Amino acid sequence: MSEAPDHQDAAARRSAMVEQMQAETGIDEAMIARLVDGFYERVRADPVIGPVFNDRITAWEPHLQQMRLFWSSVALMSGAYHGRPMPKHLPLPVDARHFDRWLELFEATARERCPPLAAEHFIERAQRIAESLELGIAGANGVLLAKGERYVRPTEAWSPGE
Ligand code: HEM
Repeated sequence: MSEAPDHQDAAARRSAMVEQMQAETGIDEAMIARLVDGFYERVRADPVIGPVFNDRITAWEPHLQQMRLFWSSVALMSGAYHGRPMPKHLPLPVDARHFDRWLELFEATARERCPPLAAEHFIERAQRIAESLELGIAGANGVLLAKGERYVRPTEAWSPGE
């Protein structure tokens, strides 16, 4: 019945870490749920990034559930999320403008729904992940970004005489 000792150790270390992160930041699962739900409400109604989500996500509840697990893993290091976000983003028709808007909405929601220290904890992590997704998307489109450079897709093809 009992787990192997090193599994027990790992599980005990994990829950100690989660407790420590919760104590330091005040973040818990209820706060994560408030942040995620409020954020995607804004996302869905947004003219810049809303359509990218609404064209692809037909069932929102499973997506919200995944995102709560994701943020639990990222913010509390709970290990609750087991997906791989990068491949899901590589085919999306997005660039720096979409990431800027995503972060703007995320930051506004975090500052509105979380105490300041917790909000900054979420925002710092979101910024880092957004940067790495943008880098990945640029790479998937054959563009190698220099440090700090942003990925901007060429606008509509222009032909002489138009
Ligand atoms: C331009 C900004 C973004 C857009 C338009 C976008 C859009 C999407 C869409 C449409 C999906 C669903 C894909 C699918 O299930 O096939 C998705 C999944 C996901 N997104 Fe984003 N995203 C953006 C930025 C971000 C950022 C900055 C993060 C993290 C901080 C993030 C985290 C995730 C995660 C974890 C999933 C996968 C959930 C799962 O495992 O099912 N996204 N995103």
